[in-house]
Amino acid sequence: MLSARKANIEDAKFLFLLRNEDGVRKFFWDQKPVKWQDHLSWLEAVLHGNQKKIYIIEKDKTPIGQVRFDIEDENAEISISISSKFHGQGYGTEALKESQEKFIKECENIKEIHAHIKQENNASTKVFKKIGYTETNETQFKGNPCISMLYNVKK
Ligand SMILES: CC(C)(COP(=O)(O)OP(=O)(O)OC[C@H]1O[C@@H](n2cnc3c(N)ncnc32)[C@H](O)[C@@H]1OP(=O)(O)O)[C@@H](O)C(=O)NCCC(=O)NCCS
Repeated sequence: MLSARKANIEDAKFLFLLRNEDGVRKFFWDQKPVKWQDHLSWLEAVLHGNQKKIYIIEKDKTPIGQVRFDIEDENAEISISISSKFHGQGYGTEALKESQEKFIKECENIKEIHAHIKQENNASTKVFKKIGYTETNETQFKGNPCISMLYNVKK
């Protein structure tokens, strides 16, 4: 069973290594590897701010992935990454469920959660659908063709 907990500064190294894994990075919109110092400054700012929430996904107390929510007013943009060696075992689906539940409880005003996925990323599209996201007709994100998924938060 997986659990989701809020990230802290001690997760910096795990998040850095995950962000730069080849099997993870290729599905990001910005594929460039990040530098340690830039990552650390970014994470410190995130943890001190209110606009982004990062959850660490753990299996038997070992981190295997992360889910991040970028908040804009009553909407949020979600992104997930599970370390490559754990792909295809149902963890992505469980990780999304666990972290989204926590996020919705923590940020009660959120109405919609959006995901923008690269068209070739079938695994990702599948996990979002499995937890109740539906495809919208939006086809572009940051100038790239994408699959857009939406989750309406039930109140
Ligand atoms: C997307 C991601 C989170 C999925 O995690 P995961 O643990 O592999 O997901 P699960 O095992 O829960 O489910 C994957 C589903 O996709 C399917 N799948 C896996 N690879 C696939 C592929 N290439 N084509 C089609 N389906 C695929 C699996 O069979 C499974 O479906 P099933 O349960 O019906 O058999 C993970 O692959 C990941 O971190 N990728 C890199 C980063 C990324 O793409 N993030 C999303 C950006 S929006």
